[in-house]
Amino acid sequence: MNSEKVVIITGANSGIGKAAAFKFAKQGFTVIMACRNMEISRRVQGEIIKATQNHRVNLLKLDVSSFESVRQFCLEFKKQYEKLDILIHNAAYANHGEKYRLSADQIELTFATNTFGPFLMSHLLIDWLKKSDDPRILHASSNIVKHFFDPKKEIEVTNLRGEDKESKTFSLYNMYRNSKMALVMLTFKMAEEFANDGIKVNAIQINGATMSKETLQKFKPGWRMIARIQNLFFAPPEKFADCYFEICTSDQFKNVTGKLLNDKNQIINPTVANANVKTQMKQLFGSTLYPVYADNKDNQNKIWELSSEITKVNGHTIIP
Ligand SMILES: NC(=O)c1ccc[n+]([C@@H]2O[C@H](COP(=O)([O-])OP(=O)(O)OC[C@H]3O[C@@H](n4cnc5c(N)ncnc54)[C@H](OP(=O)(O)O)[C@@H]3O)[C@@H](O)[C@H]2O)c1
Repeated sequence: MNSEKVVIITGANSGIGKAAAFKFAKQGFTVIMACRNMEISRRVQGEIIKATQNHRVNLLKLDVSSFESVRQFCLEFKKQYEKLDILIHNAAYANHGEKYRLSADQIELTFATNTFGPFLMSHLLIDWLKKSDDPRILHASSNIVKHFFDPKKEIEVTNLRGEDKESKTFSLYNMYRNSKMALVMLTFKMAEEFANDGIKVNAIQINGATMSKETLQKFKPGWRMIARIQNLFFAPPEKFADCYFEICTSDQFKNVTGKLLNDKNQIINPTVANANVKTQMKQLFGSTLYPVYADNKDNQNKIWELSSEITKVNGHTIIP
């Protein structure tokens, strides 16, 4: 029975997250919308309940960029629910053109929201995921990771704690790109780490979903113009909500873990070093290959250790 299945969707008040909340609610799941703006999100929750007649759509407050808020969310969730089946890390910070900003924990806001917050949340929810007979975690990544086909690109970790926050050359676009690559690498490593607990961990590479007026409004004018043009070519958010649903519920993905998937729910494979022209064209225009940077164990371990240090997660244990 779907009603017994519990799914958490972060950032479920807008875009793909909202479409996913609709989809899961329509299919009878118990849906927890994990959102930070309660006024807007309550309206969306009402809309979903009215349209689907599923009254098990709950709203719990979460600012995923704040470790304290993540902890409070998990405590509240565990008080109200006995297990967790599906955890979808959909929320993200991508206010292109913005200056360097720090989270409540003095961590660069893009990484705090897109990488470290989800990492902490997954760890805090392991024990509840383990109670499910088919637990699955999904990370929303982006085709922006394709920049890493350039072998010179690497994730810079030296400016994540405000070291150079006044930098005039700071690029939120680059920070977002790096945070989404880090998320892919954490997916691969987390799948191994959580395998003994039976928890499957995958990521989806989103390659363009129509952005809402509210999302466009968050970009600085130049970036907003680019995003408006991109919107003309992008698919509706429902397309990716369907992908989320398939990856998190279908038998096809029941035993799939540690994979990056594309918008057709195909497994994306690592490319080869020194790719020939034909492969380079596939990298650029297709969505069947990902950069080898993501597969490098040293790179993965570096990001894992940094995430553990920053969130105070040690193995599966959370340091108080
Ligand atoms: N749309 C695309 O073309 C595209 C392309 C590649 C990847 N993606 C990825 O797909 C996912 C969904 O994107 P979207 O286009 O649907 O974006 P969206 O409509 O802008 O939704 C983002 C959601 O994240 C929430 N959020 C941001 N910071 C948060 C925080 N600190 N705590 C809790 N929630 C927070 C937002 O809440 P507020 O309303 O309160 O701000 C919003 O609900 C994201 O991970 C994004 O990076 C999208």
